[in-house]
Amino acid sequence: MNKWAEGTVVSQKHWSGQLYSLQVEAELAPFEAGQFTKLALAVDGEMVARPYSFVNAPNEKPYDFYYLVLPGNPLTPQLCKLGAGDAIYLTPHASGFLTLSEVPPGEHLWLLATGTALGPFLSILKTEAPWQRFERVVLVHAVRHAAELCYQEQIQALAAKHAGRFTFVPVVSREKTDFALGGRIPKAIADGQLEARAGIGLTASSSRLMVCGNPEMVADTVHALQERGLKRHRRRDPGQIAVENYW
Ligand SMILES: Cc1cc2nc3c(=O)[nH]c(=O)nc-3n(C[C@H](O)[C@H](O)[C@H](O)COP(=O)(O)OP(=O)(O)OC[C@H]3O[C@@H](n4cnc5c(N)ncnc54)[C@H](O)[C@@H]3O)c2cc1C
Ligand SMILES: NC(=O)c1ccc[n+]([C@@H]2O[C@H](COP(=O)([O-])OP(=O)(O)OC[C@H]3O[C@@H](n4cnc5c(N)ncnc54)[C@H](OP(=O)(O)O)[C@@H]3O)[C@@H](O)[C@H]2O)c1
Repeated sequence: MNKWAEGTVVSQKHWSGQLYSLQVEAELAPFEAGQFTKLALAVDGEMVARPYSFVNAPNEKPYDFYYLVLPGNPLTPQLCKLGAGDAIYLTPHASGFLTLSEVPPGEHLWLLATGTALGPFLSILKTEAPWQRFERVVLVHAVRHAAELCYQEQIQALAAKHAGRFTFVPVVSREKTDFALGGRIPKAIADGQLEARAGIGLTASSSRLMVCGNPEMVADTVHALQERGLKRHRRRDPGQIAVENYW
């Protein structure tokens, strides 16, 4: 089996600041929403590869990857130079367990992301599964500045399609807005602001959570949820929380 599938960049979208998304055409094995592939480029004669979550739903093409350029680091400064027609390499088989098949049944699904970790949740929300399995879905996107609240069109389309069952909660930590929660997700859990905004409670019996992004946010959020009697889900020791760290 070939280690890499060769793909072709269809387009590159610049959202704002250092935030971009790449649309790629390639022949990959089927994946489950929430999973990731690796993107790779030859840099100074060596393949440099990093994991990226699919933002597109499994039945959508082209593949869509949302990323932040981190200047001075190996791959992302190269990714943002790509344009239509350029070659890019991908692992043919997806990986990862941030998928709904790893989440036990419940009433309410909470998806908590920082930064680019919004991506896997959009992929999941564009499938039928969350709407078949949960009565209510809450998507929480935490960013430093309001301009980093990307993919609003897709989020609004989800809100329109699933009116009354879907709540989007933006969290903006480094500027004041009149629409987002301020501060950080763990504090908004501890002081009840997140539940107030969503209009539903966080309880071990009703809530199932998927948490993705900055590893410190993931750890602090799990801690805040543990204080409320929830715990990490493991196949042999069922709980309510599934996590994925981006670094
Ligand atoms: C399972 C998994 C899925 C991932 N999916 C995505 C994705 O969909 N989009 C994406 O942008 N990144 C994603 N990442 C991170 C990605 O693989 C790269 O690490 C990142 O794009 C930076 O690559 P780099 O080579 O430029 O720098 P690296 O050397 O890989 O990272 C340098 C440093 O940048 C910081 N960093 C890394 N990724 C991020 C990020 N996304 N946001 C903020 N700071 C970061 C960390 O401090 C890290 O140590 C994922 C990582 C994992 C493990
Ligand atoms: N964006 C920039 O201007 C900039 C500049 C230099 C470097 N970088 C690089 O880019 C990365 C930043 O990317 P990013 O802004 O997408 O991600 P980020 O730093 O993970 O911030 C995204 C959101 O997560 C919050 N957060 C951070 N730590 C948390 C914790 N322990 N608990 C709960 N929430 C937490 C942040 O709040 P807070 O705002 O309170 O931290 C912010 O609201 C950094 O890792 C750095 O390497 C970015």
